Amino acid sequence: MTRELRAVEWAGDGLALIDQTALPHREVVLRVTDVDGLVDAVRRLVVRGAPAIGAAGAYGVAIALLQAEREGWDGSRIRAEVARIRAARPTAVNLAVSVDRVLARLDDGVTAVLAEAAAVQREDVEANHALGAHGADWLLKRQGEDRPLRVLTHCNTGALATAGWGTALGVIRELHARERLETVYADETRPLLQGARLTAWELAQEGIAHYVQADGAAAGTILRGEVDVAVVGADRIAANGDTANKVGTVGIALACAYAGIPFVVAAPTTTVDLATPHGDGITIELRDEAEVLEWAGVRTAPAGSRGHNPAFDVTPGGLVTALVTERGVLEVSAGELPGLHLA
Ligand code: MRU
Repeated sequence: MTRELRAVEWAGDGLALIDQTALPHREVVLRVTDVDGLVDAVRRLVVRGAPAIGAAGAYGVAIALLQAEREGWDGSRIRAEVARIRAARPTAVNLAVSVDRVLARLDDGVTAVLAEAAAVQREDVEANHALGAHGADWLLKRQGEDRPLRVLTHCNTGALATAGWGTALGVIRELHARERLETVYADETRPLLQGARLTAWELAQEGIAHYVQADGAAAGTILRGEVDVAVVGADRIAANGDTANKVGTVGIALACAYAGIPFVVAAPTTTVDLATPHGDGITIELRDEAEVLEWAGVRTAPAGSRGHNPAFDVTPGGLVTALVTERGVLEVSAGELPGLHLA
């Protein structure tokens, strides 16, 4: 039974965010009514996933406008506060794109701003459903009808990571709905465990068979022939197809290339950044080293160790078999590059 989960919801005077740091053990909703609260929620991954932070940022313009009315900010202060929201995380292009889209309605007032933010949210849900169907069609055609698919995924790309439904997880949900899914290998996704905590939670809610595995198990699972396809999401896709996604993704792509199975990126076109020619131009968020030096607040590495904690990596476009968007499927490795012709 499909429960329509909304990670980001407008609630009259602010946002109601499912606190993703508390899942899967506690389902807590965090109310956010000011810019500081929103920036903090985005940075702490209360709300996370490229399209979800895009939706939150879109509504963030309304939050800034309402706070301006309460606190008497002038126009330049409003824009400075909105810029803080826009910059809260650097890698996912959806945040900046959504904020800019809604900011363009600033002078039309809060009703217009809210309507634009709602459109961002609605269009993302629609895009996810469309790309889920395109991805399932493409995979089933490529795979043939012999048996249901075993799909590996990384991080969380479901309803929690989007305005609703999901990207890579949307493809997986669609395969499940068509009874063409055998099982999902959900990488735990170190260091913050978006796979073990969030993807597994969403799959369990849907009654979808799955294994959680250590990130380090992924390559071996692929090379042993236990996976038919890897489907992942994206935070930013450069014009040449280079794809930034959760750290660990590029290793999966390399293993898929070696094993000769498809490595599929599923993302709405709002994640494609044609202004960035290639992956070198994508800013990779470096997070607090404590996330890799500690476990649940307890130090695990020796006192003198430093932590290296990039939140994302970039998979070269040449390793991407196909890019699934709401407009259809581009077979990237088949030579439809350079230049994603999406404009
Ligand atoms: O740090 P996170 O949890 O925001 O990272 C999320 C991812 O890397 C997702 O794969 C990506 O944003 C796509 S979500 C549909």
